[in-house]
Amino acid sequence: MKIAQISDLHVVAAGKTQGVAQMAENLEKVVAHINGLGPDVVLVSGDIADTGTLAEVQRAAAILAELNVPFYVTPGNHDLREALQKGMPVAALPARAAGHLSYAVELPKRRILALDSTDPDVPNGRICEARAAWLAAELESSAKPTLLFMHHPPLKFSVDETDRPPLEGVELLSEIVARHGHIERILCGHIHLFAQALWQGSLVCAAPSMGMRLNWSPNALGASSFLVSPPAYLWHMLNEDGNMITHAFSLDDVDGPFAFT
Ligand SMILES: [Fe+2]
Repeated sequence: MKIAQISDLHVVAAGKTQGVAQMAENLEKVVAHINGLGPDVVLVSGDIADTGTLAEVQRAAAILAELNVPFYVTPGNHDLREALQKGMPVAALPARAAGHLSYAVELPKRRILALDSTDPDVPNGRICEARAAWLAAELESSAKPTLLFMHHPPLKFSVDETDRPPLEGVELLSEIVARHGHIERILCGHIHLFAQALWQGSLVCAAPSMGMRLNWSPNALGASSFLVSPPAYLWHMLNEDGNMITHAFSLDDVDGPFAFT
């Protein structure tokens, strides 16, 4: 089983995102790259649009429609639920409830739970009682190894602008994850960096963006800025021993391949 995870598309209706980043063009390149590798499914972990408009979602949806395999989306803090529901096919966003856009997907060997971590008034996200109850019920309904898929990382990755304030209601999520050992991964975005951490017994993988890398340093936390960068994404798959492994692809201009000598 092979899963491509792309995140933080920040597609604008026309032109460059924030005036400098070619996000829609980058997404087209990544879709072609993914089609060349042939995963079983593609997960899109939020911030599909840059300002949340329907035109942005429709442009992103048209590019994602070129994927040869099913794709699923979850909202980010730059997305508006209503526009996402209107602009994305139902197959990509099976949740149609107004309260939160969470849903479950059954794959042959894994289960995917898309948890909507957004709140229109809270950019750093929120897990409410209703979503916590939904998640707990889903996890209790099946012991199948599960990938939890949400926009906001549940822990602090030493990223100033997303650590403070942290994800609201994270204590609810923490308790649920800690008592369900079958959550194999928590797949996130939001920080525009590839970062990983073990949290409450599960591996949290934050995916990089489609071309707006956070200008991050461990020694210089401070004002938020980004670097225009090559698009990058994650690849999660079961290896021949049945272990879930995660790789990262960056669509850099590289030279090679060369044989090791
Ligand atoms: Fe983002």
